[in-house]
Amino acid sequence: MPSLRSWALAALTLAQTVLGAPPRIDTRASGSVDSWLSNEATIAVNRILSNIGSTGQYAASSKSGIIIASPSTDNPDYYYTWSRDAALVIKTLVELFRNGESSVQTAIMNYVDSQAILQTVSNPSGQLSDGTGLGEPKFNVDETAFTGAWGRPQRDGPALRATALVDFGNWLLDNGYASYATNNVWPVVRNDLTYVAQYWNQTGFDLWEEVSGSSYFTVSAQHRALVEGSAFASRVGSSCTNCDAIAPQILCYMQSFWTGSYMNANFGGGRSGKDANTVLASIHAFDPNAACDDTTFQPCSSRALANHKVYTDAFRSVYSLNSGKAEGVAVAVGRYPEDSYYNGNPWYLTTLAAAEQLYDALYTWNRQGSLTITSTSLAFFQDLYSSAAVGTYASTSAAYIDIVAAVKTYADGYVSIVETYAMSNGSMSEQYDKSAGTPLSARDLTWSYAALLSANLRRNSVVPQPWGETGASSVPSVCYATSASGSYSTAAVQSWPSTLTSGTGSPTTSPTTTPSGTGSSKPTTTTTTTAACTTPTAVSVTFNEIATTTYGENVFLSGSISQLGSWDTGSAIALSASQYTSSNNKWFVTLNLPAGTTFQYKFIRKETDGSIVWESDPNRSYTVPQGCNVATATENDTWR
Ligand SMILES: *[C@@H]1O[C@H](CO)[C@@H](O)[C@H](O)[C@H]1NC(C)=O
Ligand SMILES: *[C@@H]1O[C@H](CO)[C@@H](O)[C@H](O)[C@H]1NC(C)=O
Ligand SMILES: *[C@@H]1O[C@H](CO)[C@@H](O)[C@H](O)[C@H]1NC(C)=O
Ligand SMILES: *[C@@H]1O[C@H](CO)[C@@H](O)[C@H](O)[C@H]1NC(C)=O
Repeated sequence: MPSLRSWALAALTLAQTVLGAPPRIDTRASGSVDSWLSNEATIAVNRILSNIGSTGQYAASSKSGIIIASPSTDNPDYYYTWSRDAALVIKTLVELFRNGESSVQTAIMNYVDSQAILQTVSNPSGQLSDGTGLGEPKFNVDETAFTGAWGRPQRDGPALRATALVDFGNWLLDNGYASYATNNVWPVVRNDLTYVAQYWNQTGFDLWEEVSGSSYFTVSAQHRALVEGSAFASRVGSSCTNCDAIAPQILCYMQSFWTGSYMNANFGGGRSGKDANTVLASIHAFDPNAACDDTTFQPCSSRALANHKVYTDAFRSVYSLNSGKAEGVAVAVGRYPEDSYYNGNPWYLTTLAAAEQLYDALYTWNRQGSLTITSTSLAFFQDLYSSAAVGTYASTSAAYIDIVAAVKTYADGYVSIVETYAMSNGSMSEQYDKSAGTPLSARDLTWSYAALLSANLRRNSVVPQPWGETGASSVPSVCYATSASGSYSTAAVQSWPSTLTSGTGSPTTSPTTTPSGTGSSKPTTTTTTTAACTTPTAVSVTFNEIATTTYGENVFLSGSISQLGSWDTGSAIALSASQYTSSNNKWFVTLNLPAGTTFQYKFIRKETDGSIVWESDPNRSYTVPQGCNVATATENDTWR
């Protein structure tokens, strides 16, 4: 059973400012995927924040909360905000926030405000009054409409925005900020859900803005949004009956994209349909509580694994970068093999998605304690484990252990390719050249960084909140082309508290059933009806370590239990320096640990050259508290 681990995020740029240390080292010098990722995760957060107006270094002329796709203003000009890219970036930032990264909080709140405004901007796709304007793919950074010719509408944006906002709204509800979920977040989400229920069954442009038709990525995002949107509606004291009526119909339609051997990315467009569209759909439909369901294309499902093979194999012969790499060995992958944009090259975000799907699958197998090979997924497994055969393998079996290790190596191979072709300062553009590997097209693509961060979270077994897949995976026997029209209303921009106390993402209270609806700027207290004592089986333990570090040096936690890597320094847990200041040299991490467990541990430093420095003896010892309503604990230590 994997633990909810924290993830490598040390705010090095912050530490750098504070310490006045020299500029970054060459990240490629550090070698392994582990150390590259721990540095790159920090860089990724900072580059994302650089691309968000108006405080971001590269987005200073953008309105507050506007996320630019890239700072590039020509060849190509990506200095706009796309609904899809922005929503996917915020989805990742909300996850980071849930895991203790407070530096992204203001950006999330500003994004909510900016979307309330953008929803009202009439544009070439339409306007808010009948919802049509919500299908507009991109806007100018000053929050005016982009009026040039474009592939429009694109119907995934509202669904993806709803998903990102619902996650944040649920966090607010779980942490005593119910009025903000109700007054700031829900009105934006409500419009997006209404749009999805009304327009899901009409054609639009795909996520690459090229194919007019029906895109698997879009319908998958729409299904998920309606499912979690309905539950969120109930939590804020409202309802979404159209969500409940339409979601099963979208799921029904989704099944028709399966070709028998892979997921067809689009109806329309006249291509093979082998496309990163479907891998992205799978990772964004991942629910950590789900089984390996084919119907929702869970990352570990037979269909999604078969699709992973067909998709990745499609690039083995089209990029010379991949020459000589056998099936089952990671390769550079792009959008789709027929791609001709910039002559068609691998993209960072698609290569990372190929890794992320496999990390998701590993999580679910470990949670289930088994994996199943079916005739559909057999070829995928045989590439990695030649004696793979149809059957179910318990986690105690030798085959399971070998297969899981091979999948992890395969997934890390995709990250390693990204490491190889990222810039030495950690920057990632949109693409890298199919022959030379050099970065191409838009510089510092915001989505590339979000893709890096989500892959890194999954690699560390940090999973997103469940979205309700377990109650929404059964397919109606007959599909209907029904839609439901609804009404739209302007979401007012509301004030926010100056700070929200970020938590562990493990709600321990039930939602309030009576939202205040007052618009008051004070958080309402969450009322729970139960006073009964419960003894949590896991406790969220925060380790604070005072350690004076120099720039590039990172602090990790290593210990005797599996959650701390069983003394393997390669599996040690990274601490965050996001609260490190010159007067308080604090590194910290919050981990979910089994209540009552006693273990030994030490903090270690990983130096820029990859070497390890241990704290002096003796080993430290800690017992996770266990008791009535004890859900959190803190351990304060100082480097020795
Ligand atoms: C609408 O839904 C029906 C039933 O699933 C399906 O046959 C049809 O292709 C869909 N059309 C679009 C554009 O989504
Ligand atoms: C990273 O390095 C490249 C190449 O030297 C440079 O063009 C780019 O501006 C750097 N990126 C950042 C964010 O500093
Ligand atoms: C700390 O724990 C490790 C691993 O069990 C052990 O090898 C080492 O001897 C311990 N150190 C001390 C000082 O007990
Ligand atoms: C840890 O340190 C914090 C900040 O100094 C303090 O508020 C807290 O009480 C300490 N907790 C323990 C268990 O020592």
